[in-house]
Amino acid sequence: MKRILLLGSTGSIGTQALDVIRKHPDLFKVVGLAAYSNGELLARQANEFRPSMIALTKGIHDLKDMVKYPCEVITGEDAAVRLVESCDADIVLNAIVGVAGLLPTISTIKGGTTLALANKESMVTAGEIIVNLTREKGVDILPVDSEHSAIFQCLQKKGAQKEIRKIILTASGGPFRDYSCDMLKDVTAEQALKHPTWSMGKKITVDSATLMNKGFEVIEAHWFFGVKYRDIEVVIHPESIVHSMVEFVDGAVLAQMGVPDMRLPIQYALSYPERIEGLTERLNLYGLSLTFREPDTRTFRCLKLAYDAAIAGGTYPAVLNAANEICVELFLKGMIKFLDIPLLIEKALDGHKPIYNPTIEDIIYVDSQTRDAVKKMVVN
Ligand SMILES: NC(=O)c1ccc[n+]([C@@H]2O[C@H](COP(=O)([O-])OP(=O)(O)OC[C@H]3O[C@@H](n4cnc5c(N)ncnc54)[C@H](OP(=O)(O)O)[C@@H]3O)[C@@H](O)[C@H]2O)c1
Repeated sequence: MKRILLLGSTGSIGTQALDVIRKHPDLFKVVGLAAYSNGELLARQANEFRPSMIALTKGIHDLKDMVKYPCEVITGEDAAVRLVESCDADIVLNAIVGVAGLLPTISTIKGGTTLALANKESMVTAGEIIVNLTREKGVDILPVDSEHSAIFQCLQKKGAQKEIRKIILTASGGPFRDYSCDMLKDVTAEQALKHPTWSMGKKITVDSATLMNKGFEVIEAHWFFGVKYRDIEVVIHPESIVHSMVEFVDGAVLAQMGVPDMRLPIQYALSYPERIEGLTERLNLYGLSLTFREPDTRTFRCLKLAYDAAIAGGTYPAVLNAANEICVELFLKGMIKFLDIPLLIEKALDGHKPIYNPTIEDIIYVDSQTRDAVKKMVVN
């Protein structure tokens, strides 16, 4: 029985992870759950899965009364980190959205626990620190993102990583994939939130529409699999059936396919190295046509900005991420336009004085400075 500590349990990944655990009560046991402000759902999840500890960052004070069995309740700003530090688990699944997931990621690795990582912003902002720390602590990190799970599944042969020529990340292209710059001028948050193939949280859905999500995944792939940026290619694949591919030195290309359903990569991270009965619909190949094309980085500039920030290194990816988080928030509130997102991120990157080989404290400082700087740009 694997003991699972789930951070971000009330979100899209979190609730789907609980679907997987619900299907396999003989294999997985929830020992801890953490949410940010949705205390009601957290209490319901706790009453169903009966973890010994739960954590809530903000919100209702009667959480303890809503939980109908003896359970330790941790609250406050650093609730998720304190939960990681005090709860004994075999795997921590980090499904928090945004850079808020970074400190829980670090605490998990420092504590020597296997990390199933959905929170891509950790890897984007602090990839080098995370990779070094996992080596030092001998901790495994398992990818949850469908693209990285696909690559991971293609690399199961011992020594396969050394034989990679190129990683090919597939992207659905989001709801605006056939739009010109002119057509993108007045798109609304409501339109951006209608993803054609995946059902996800709001932030990642907007990131998919701008292609920043794919830029983040390029950075994630670099740190997860040790592949140079020039050997990571993005292709638009509207059907979202091929979840990513690896081209090897001999020219062979391996792909992992399946219907677009996050419960598969979530389950693989939890059950690894075993494969167990899944919850997802089975892939029917009859009548299926798969198409691939080059992304338009002149229209979707966020992808190019992400490559540039990644190659520049140091604290540039932290600026990319912080500026993007604020821009997405402002776009969702209707305070900026869709095409302002790359403009503001570019301005934040251009104005940044980088720190190379940053510490976690440097990254947190740069994150907060960038948020303030972008907010000021919008006000002025
Ligand atoms: N959704 C997908 O299909 C998908 C696929 C691949 C990767 N990912 C990655 O997985 C992560 C989660 O995505 P999601 O779509 O599941 O997001 P989501 O639906 O917005 O859920 C986010 C979760 O994080 C919690 N949270 C929000 N802000 C927090 C904070 N400041 N501190 C601690 N917890 C916080 C939320 O709690 P409350 O509900 O209480 O606010 C919620 O449980 C993201 O990094 C995303 O890029 C998602």
